[in-house]
Amino acid sequence: MSAPIIRTLPELRALTRQWHREGATIGVVPTMGALHQGHLSLARAARADCDRVIVTIFVNPKQFNNPDDLKNYPRTEHEDAKKLAPIGVDVIYVPDGEQMYPDGFATNVSVSGLTDVLCGAHRPGHFDGVATVVAKLFGQTAADRAYFGQKDWQQLQVVTRMARDLDIDIEVIGCLTIREEDGLAMSSRNLLLSDRARIHAPKLAEVMEDMAEALRAGGSMSALMPDAEKRLKAAGFTEIEYLDLRDAASLIQHDKLTGECRLFAAAWLAGIRLIDNIAV
Ligand code: PAJ
Repeated sequence: MSAPIIRTLPELRALTRQWHREGATIGVVPTMGALHQGHLSLARAARADCDRVIVTIFVNPKQFNNPDDLKNYPRTEHEDAKKLAPIGVDVIYVPDGEQMYPDGFATNVSVSGLTDVLCGAHRPGHFDGVATVVAKLFGQTAADRAYFGQKDWQQLQVVTRMARDLDIDIEVIGCLTIREEDGLAMSSRNLLLSDRARIHAPKLAEVMEDMAEALRAGGSMSALMPDAEKRLKAAGFTEIEYLDLRDAASLIQHDKLTGECRLFAAAWLAGIRLIDNIAV
């Protein structure tokens, strides 16, 4: 049976207050829907850890800096509910725009530093939108634990920092990136790839894995970049927004492997922006 869909905050609050009175722990999995196995892995992790699980679905206009991207974002609520049914989540919370940003809404949550680089540098305002909506979802769900994917590593760091800075009593948990068999990181945006682009999309992860191996062997980004760019361009990638080696926590850039580092990439393939990151 599908979990009930709740669309208003008063209904959600009535439930979460009851759950807290019962001493139940609440886990939340924030999403924008078009659920795939990556999202479902977060819901399963929450299900395993928590007494009650809320999956939220809200395509957050504040984090899109391109109106077409917002318009084209896949919306598949009915299928999403079906996919969640076997996991046994307790509630699917699907607020509308008016519920989240009523007339007169005037607050912006902005995390500095961490958001100056990578996606933050290329998508102005994006992480303010994320931090603002996630702060609201934390407040609305009153959850004890929140589950995020490492797929969006920078987002995970931003949300963790925001919760800590604002003293929100929630544990933020990062879950491993789930990939297709050919290595492509699962993403709702993959649905927008043409058949041809879909064939070439795994090249991004493949190039990154090869770079990670070379970095572990003592290589440097400056020496590895020309070949990586050539391989991606040959696969049809039109623009590489960034392909950086950075500290996993501070996101400070390095040329050679230094401490705990990750490789981060964002690149455009046939009009679709793909991002990925891996441990080095
Ligand atoms: P969305 O892109 O729908 O992703 C929801 C959650 O699923 C995020 O925590 C994301 O990191 C995780 N996720 C996506 N692909 C994954 C994969 N292949 N493996 C593991 N986890 C994956 O991220 C957002 O929505 C929004 O910014 C949100 C946090 C909901 C705020 O609006």
